[in-house]
Amino acid sequence: FPAERIRNFCIIAHIDHGKSTLADRLLEMTGAIAKTEKNKQVLDKLQVERERGITVKAQTASLFYSHEGEQYLLNLIDTPGHVDFSYEVSRSISACQGVLLIVDANQGIQAQTVANFYLAFEAQLTIIPVINKIDLKNADPERVESQIEKVFDIPREECIRISAKQGTNVEMVLQAVVNRIPPPVASIDDPFKALVFDSNFDHYRGVVANIAVFGGQVRKGDKIMSAHLAKTYEVNELGLLRPDEHPTQKLFAGQVGYIIAGMKDVKEAQIGDTLYLQEQPVKALPGFKPAKAMVFAGMYPMDQSEYPGLRSAIERLTLNDSSVTVQRDSSLALGAGWRLGFLGLLHMEVFNQRLEQEYNASVIVTAPTVPYKAVLSSAKLIKNRRAIQKNMVYIDDQRVMMKYLFPLNEVVVDFYDLLKSLSSGYASFDYENAGYQAADLIKMDILLNGRPVEELTTIVHRERAYPSGKAMCERLKDSIPRQMFEIAVQAAIGSKIIARETIKAFRKNVLAKCYGGDITRKMKLLKRQAEGKKKMRRIGNVEVPKDAFINVLKRK
Ligand code: GTP
Repeated sequence: FPAERIRNFCIIAHIDHGKSTLADRLLEMTGAIAKTEKNKQVLDKLQVERERGITVKAQTASLFYSHEGEQYLLNLIDTPGHVDFSYEVSRSISACQGVLLIVDANQGIQAQTVANFYLAFEAQLTIIPVINKIDLKNADPERVESQIEKVFDIPREECIRISAKQGTNVEMVLQAVVNRIPPPVASIDDPFKALVFDSNFDHYRGVVANIAVFGGQVRKGDKIMSAHLAKTYEVNELGLLRPDEHPTQKLFAGQVGYIIAGMKDVKEAQIGDTLYLQEQPVKALPGFKPAKAMVFAGMYPMDQSEYPGLRSAIERLTLNDSSVTVQRDSSLALGAGWRLGFLGLLHMEVFNQRLEQEYNASVIVTAPTVPYKAVLSSAKLIKNRRAIQKNMVYIDDQRVMMKYLFPLNEVVVDFYDLLKSLSSGYASFDYENAGYQAADLIKMDILLNGRPVEELTTIVHRERAYPSGKAMCERLKDSIPRQMFEIAVQAAIGSKIIARETIKAFRKNVLAKCYGGDITRKMKLLKRQAEGKKKMRRIGNVEVPKDAFINVLKRK
């Protein structure tokens, strides 16, 4: 395939605006997958993606499309919509020359529409605005076109109105991809040079790297090097993703595909790294700005004997998700473990769920915290308002975009959920790091029968200490089942107790309701109780359910 008949593009959108549905239609229309009910969200391969109905990890598919008598190779890179995963979006964008910017015909421009637009705009990609869901009764494509014109300065004539669900005008999208997006600037005569924009770890074959070839060509058997470690590898297998792996003999300039080259160690396949031929070294491509972890949580094995298994699970999963940072940590109550950094709370929950589902690991996750810098000086005396309004722009007469400066701590746990429910789902939200600010903060401990639970130690604003201590004690009381003795749940600042709840003693006799002698039923109940116990963690003499750590931080 000559580079001038290749198009590399991705689909970007606010969550739920229909990326995956459009991707499915494009795959069907180009014959990459059969048209059946079963083929839904083909690019959402992970179990957690299907269960939650969201895209977490970007996937790639090469499509063949005939247009005016010519065959084109279209490389589609699917991207996630949620704010926590914008790192995946910028990674996909670096392998593309154009994007389809999907906007829901009813909801109009939302927070991630704006954030994703700027990622594509700054990378100087061709932007094709696509208004989706025009089949909806209350669709208002006119209004959405006005928004696009006003906010993004894109002429309304460039918008394509479609229904991804019903397939209406999807053909026009394919034509626009061919006609409006420029081919990659890549010459087959240059030395081989490829960007690693994603990688997966396969238990049997080692690292499978997704690459975008920026110059030259690579064949099976070639000796290649990575710019980062300067180690040599032999190419065992390469090919296209359609979206399943499709081995080929070569990959050419302008193509996007996968490569397996016997990389065994998790550190060998750095995302953003450059691959080249051993005998033809090249200058490394710019790579990526590392993703910045915003939310930190401890992760510990349920039982210390499971430590090695959990360690390898975390290592392998972080290879598939390089935005997670990992540091060894240990805790009096929980033993040896790690402190992990995530891009947001959903990212953390998804990581945890993937550990359990894909690696069969059982973990205790401690309450998430955000990073602070402590400065020991009287400057902390400065009183801060917790949120400061920065600016406000009317997108049209129904929608307004507001910018605030917030302490990250206020937005990390449940701000998104709260905003959604207060606005009946109409408001949307995106954030970026604005740096550290001085604030009047103090350390608050939580005690169980007088013993501090270090995982629940939080840093709170002085003015919020009493209500937040009280709320944490109440929630902890609700999450810990009664035990054979009374439990005091206390919040303390230094040696001063500021809140207290009591959990009364109670012995839960699960057999109490089993009159008579159905032994199988009794065994079942006892087994269930034993399974319940496994999900518990002992702190001092108190059994704490493992999800208590995260429940405690959620506001009601
Ligand atoms: P994330 O991957 O999580 O960001 O979501 P997404 O943008 O991929 O959205 P998805 O394709 O999963 O679609 C979200 C919902 O909108 C699903 O329930 C779709 O069935 C529905 N949907 C998508 N396109 C259309 C459309 O053209 N018309 C209607 N009525 N519904 C649509």
